[in-house]
Amino acid sequence: MKKGIKQEEKKGKNILVVGSGGREHVLCWKLSQSKHVDKVFCAQGNGGTKLNINISPNDISALVNFAKDNNIDQTWVGPEDSLVKGIADAFEIANLNIIAPNKRSAVLEGSKIFAREFMKKYNIPIPNFVPFKNSSVDLGIEYINIVGAPIVVKADGLCAGKGVYVCNSKSEAIKAIKNLKNNFGSAGNDYILEECLVGPEVSLTLVTDGKSYKKLSYSRDHKRRFNNDKGPNTGGMGAYAPTKLITKELDQIIEDTIIEPTLEGLRAENFDYKGFLYIALMLTDEGPKVLEYNVRLGDPETQVIVPLNNNDWYELGQAIIEKKLDGFEWSNKQAHACCVVAVSKLYPGKYRSGCKILGLKQLTEISELNGFYAFHAGTKKDESIVRTAGGRVLGITALGTDHLDAVDRAYSAIKIIKFDNSAYRTDIGKNNFENE
Ligand code: AMP
Ligand code: GLY
Repeated sequence: MKKGIKQEEKKGKNILVVGSGGREHVLCWKLSQSKHVDKVFCAQGNGGTKLNINISPNDISALVNFAKDNNIDQTWVGPEDSLVKGIADAFEIANLNIIAPNKRSAVLEGSKIFAREFMKKYNIPIPNFVPFKNSSVDLGIEYINIVGAPIVVKADGLCAGKGVYVCNSKSEAIKAIKNLKNNFGSAGNDYILEECLVGPEVSLTLVTDGKSYKKLSYSRDHKRRFNNDKGPNTGGMGAYAPTKLITKELDQIIEDTIIEPTLEGLRAENFDYKGFLYIALMLTDEGPKVLEYNVRLGDPETQVIVPLNNNDWYELGQAIIEKKLDGFEWSNKQAHACCVVAVSKLYPGKYRSGCKILGLKQLTEISELNGFYAFHAGTKKDESIVRTAGGRVLGITALGTDHLDAVDRAYSAIKIIKFDNSAYRTDIGKNNFENE
């Protein structure tokens, strides 16, 4: 008999979600809504996910063994590191269903040079860029001295969101190249220097089976730690969706100039891409341009775009695996969503963990039927007490009939949550773009 967790209790489909952040809690929540799904395991999960498995997202062979031993029907993956390491390929070799792009496709996030060259080849609107492969710092400095500032310096490889420097002076840019070379190991060995674009940023998330795609709502992240986009970059302090910035006309332009050429490129290069594709856009005076591809869902964008979707995600997963997304009936709600992230006060610096979180039960009571969700990120459950265990602690999401309603409701909900040294931005969704 196969070993595993209580096989005799298996009634429906079993799911494995890989990762432990807010995004993964949303995936667990959404998949547990499916009428087909019995159990949703999460590796390694957090204080909000229920069936946590102590296997690192990077221990791919242990995840494959877990999926085999526990009759996992679908595996969904959050973090880019697992994708770049080839988790999808390993599952497919083992004949296990996984909704994630393969290692070859994941290079679209794993190498910024590769991604930019792909975008250029398929005529996707992007900033001017020059790749520096195995180049000395001096070559970069020479180029900076010619083109001047502002200029953007980007490490080629994955740097946990810390490899991009938007530089307003030549000296800042030169310092950035030296920093990449000295501090990011092989990820900073190659780099890109690119034109600095100006305009509001919008996140576009697609789900694709490699042949066709469906679009989740356009959303907007808030990366800086403090109000009015001040302070250091973070993993994301809040998000909302949809956005007024994307008119019908602009949506059509994005489809024609960005989405279709991207899909055409994926097909032409035989990527056999399947899963999520996140396209970061900047809306410039010359039209929308691509800042980057991520081969995964964004965080905290997931916390707003997934509750806005009406579909059964087990069925979505099957449609992707069977490459039948074209005929899949897709529906997003005609509502708005806002997520405010509660963080440990000193985040993204050194912060204290282990603080007891109060108010979760009260929030759950008013919760989902009324369009409120407390998505956990850096939390841990000890016995039945939930404590902080990370910088970004909870993503409090609310749905509303319009943008301001969603924002007001998210702020009324976050007031219920209390923990020592908690903090949050008070201006999520309150910028001029949506409200004027
Ligand atoms: P990326 O990881 O490439 O999306 O870059 C992180 C952030 O850097 C983006 O969200 C932008 O705010 C900024 N950024 C990246 N590329 C550019 C660019 N070419 N021009 C201006 N800002 C950029
Ligand atoms: N919210 C940006 C990201 O997930 O990369």
